[in-house]
Amino acid sequence: MADAKVYKNFINGQWVESASGKTFENRNPANTDEVVGVFQKSTAEDVKNAIDSAAEAYKKWRLVPAPKRGEILYNVAARLLRDKEALSRDMTREMGKAIAETRGDVQEAIDMTFYMAGEGRRQFGMTTPSEMQNKFNMTVRQPLGVCSFITPWNFPMAIPSWKMMPALICGNTLVIKPATDTPLSVANLMKVCEEEGIPPGVVNMVTGSGGALGDALINDDRVRVVSFTGSTEIGRKVSEGCAPNFKHSCLEMGGKNVQIVCEDAKLELAVEGALWGAFGTSGQRCTATSRIVCHKDVHDKFVKMMVDRASKLKVGDGLDESVQMGPLINQGQLDTVLSYVKIGKEGGAKMVTGGEQLTGGKYDKGFFVQPTIFTDVTRDMRIWKEEIFGPVLSITTYSDFDEAIELANDTIYGLSASIYTQDINRAYRAMRDVYTGIFYVNAPTIGAETHLPFGGTKETGNGHREAATATLDVYSEWKSVYVDFSGRIQRAQIDNQ
Ligand code: UN1
Repeated sequence: MADAKVYKNFINGQWVESASGKTFENRNPANTDEVVGVFQKSTAEDVKNAIDSAAEAYKKWRLVPAPKRGEILYNVAARLLRDKEALSRDMTREMGKAIAETRGDVQEAIDMTFYMAGEGRRQFGMTTPSEMQNKFNMTVRQPLGVCSFITPWNFPMAIPSWKMMPALICGNTLVIKPATDTPLSVANLMKVCEEEGIPPGVVNMVTGSGGALGDALINDDRVRVVSFTGSTEIGRKVSEGCAPNFKHSCLEMGGKNVQIVCEDAKLELAVEGALWGAFGTSGQRCTATSRIVCHKDVHDKFVKMMVDRASKLKVGDGLDESVQMGPLINQGQLDTVLSYVKIGKEGGAKMVTGGEQLTGGKYDKGFFVQPTIFTDVTRDMRIWKEEIFGPVLSITTYSDFDEAIELANDTIYGLSASIYTQDINRAYRAMRDVYTGIFYVNAPTIGAETHLPFGGTKETGNGHREAATATLDVYSEWKSVYVDFSGRIQRAQIDNQ
């Protein structure tokens, strides 16, 4: 496609070519004939230039009053809102998910940006009495410096915004490397930042793939925060890369999220929840529902309803408003999903619907697969344990409630979980005993809102949270300030005894 637009890196307020002189194509996963854009295949040298620019810009940006930084973010948010439709369409073209969902993704970025703009006038510290007379104690948040962001393709604008906006409002500068499959949405975000008044060098984007870029983003001494969303395997490497000089690392990784369906659940609602949780975004969310723990008395009915509904979901090009499930992101992801279908069957689970790649006509140009459900899944099976990141749901049964909780917790991950029941006591017990970072009652495992902390336990995260005010602790550090106005030396723990 000779007329595909060429996008450059964004460094120090300029759109610049990579030092490599090389580019790569970003193709539409619903129609691989369509080149969405051509992007820079960057090198470690490009990353170094971006970090140079971010480090220089930090000197001034950290001193801009936070409410003023907030004003710029309000403008960014308002612009994202104004351009929402065009941004969403671009996102569906590069990522594939249904247009209603990409509108949701852009909305999540808008929400986060407005929310963090407001933090410009908050970022509350505390004052507290001193143990001495004539002495004043307070805490203030201070920024850290340059942040590096490595972001995934499943939420091409929302997740970058979760990292960028809190970093900016706290006074940091940043370099972002978007996923190779979805650089356009981040390029669009950079353009909005540029045009709405974020000063040159404060936000920088370098596109491309591979370990060399990752290493350059993590290893540079001037980088003080690395935030990564992606697989647990890569997250571990990021964590190790940050360890030698104790950089903040904020890691959002895998999930194997569960929905418990009790015998008293409103089954129709539980089915709706499971369909949206498992097959929304083609199952390509770290919050996706990939396991159902269903009471044995309602299992057969629940499965029948699920199969009936799942087999009727309309799969296709996400730009078609009637499509409910778009393609998978790329060939690799399609291969992974199909291999798990095989693993599920060979492991002894019963496939009750789906399992096939969709072919013929327009399907041949994309990475389409049917919504897939397995029953009779047991704890030793790989489809029960491993994150698939596709539209594959595993169902198992339980008899008593303690068993349901035990099954829910039977995973190395701990991002999201949900329970469908009409019994308030059970709902609260599960809320307390299921060890995840996010928990839903009578709602699916997906759908977090930006003003609550987002993140998971165990191998899903490293204790940090994104979103809400919780994430300010990633992008700032506390400074405790003591002001002695007594005019004399006062020795803490000694002179006040
Ligand atoms: C992710 O899949 O990495 O809670 C993020 C949700 C969305 C975000 C998902 N708001 O499902």
